[in-house]
Amino acid sequence: MSMSNDDFDPLDGSMPRHVAIIMDGNGRWAEKRLMPRAFGHQAGVKAVRKIVEACAAQKIEVLTLFAFSSENWRRPKEEVSLLMALFMTTLQREVDKLDRNNIRLRFIGDRSLFSEKLQQKMAQGEIQTQNNTALTLVIAANYGGRWDTCQAFQQVIDKMAAGELEPQKITEQLINQHLSTADIPEPDLFIRTGGEQRVSNFMLWQLAYTELYFTPLLWPDFDQQALDAAITSFKGRQRRFGHTGEQILNKLVTL
Ligand code: IPE
Ligand code: IPE
Ligand code: MG
Repeated sequence: MSMSNDDFDPLDGSMPRHVAIIMDGNGRWAEKRLMPRAFGHQAGVKAVRKIVEACAAQKIEVLTLFAFSSENWRRPKEEVSLLMALFMTTLQREVDKLDRNNIRLRFIGDRSLFSEKLQQKMAQGEIQTQNNTALTLVIAANYGGRWDTCQAFQQVIDKMAAGELEPQKITEQLINQHLSTADIPEPDLFIRTGGEQRVSNFMLWQLAYTELYFTPLLWPDFDQQALDAAITSFKGRQRRFGHTGEQILNKLVTL
C-alpha cells in the first residue's frame, strides 16, 4: 500500500478505504448518567467492538482509532491508570477474536512510555495477526501528529548524518516513508464524535486531503447507523485534490 495522492479516488460513490476516528465523549457520556468517567471508557470499548465489526463487514481496508493521545497523560493520575488497565484487559480479551476474524492489529504512537507488560502484549498482538488480510485495525496509542513528524525527522536526520541520505533527496514521499503510517494509505474519512470540531494533534500530515466529519454523538452512542451516516456523507462529496470540479466530473485528470 502506498500513501501518495495518486492512489486516491475522487468522488465516484466509492467507499472510503481508510476511516480514522477520534473516539471522543466517553467522559461526558458517563457524567450525563451521574457515573464515574471510568464507566464511559468501559462503554467506549463496547462501541469499539461494534464499529470494528461494522467496518470489517463493509470491507473497509483500514480503521484507525485514536485511543490515547500524547497529551492525555495530562489527565488525573487515576484516569490515566484506569485507561492503561482497560487497554491491557481489552487486548488480552480481544486479540484472539480479531485473529479469528482475519483482522490485522497495528499500533502507532510512542510505546516506550507504556509498561513493559503492555508493550509486550502490543507486540504479541501485532505478531499474532500480522498475516491477516481482512481489515487492518490501527490503534493510535500515545500518538500525536507532532510526535510522528518529529520521529520521522529524527530518522531522516540520522540517515543524513550517517551519509546515507543527501539533503536534496528530502521529498514528501521520503517523509511519508518515515511516518508511523508509512505502509498505510492516507485516511479518506475522518470522524470525530463528541461534538468538538478540532483535530487534537491526530494525524496532522496524513489528514491533508481527508474528508472531515464531525458528529455530536458521544463515542459510546456511536453505532453502525451513525457510521453509515458518516459514510453516506463521504460518498456524497467531491474530492478535488486541487483540481476544478469540472476536471473531476469530466475525468480530465487522473488522480
Ligand atoms: C475519549 O473520551 C477517550 C480518551 C481520550 C481516552 P474523553 O475521555 O475525552 O471524553 P470527554 O471528552 O471528556 O467526554
Ligand atoms: C482526543 O480527545 C484524543 C482521543 C480521543 C484519544 P481529547 O478529549 O483528548 O481531546 P481534547 O483535549 O478535547 O482536544
Ligand atoms: Mg475528550
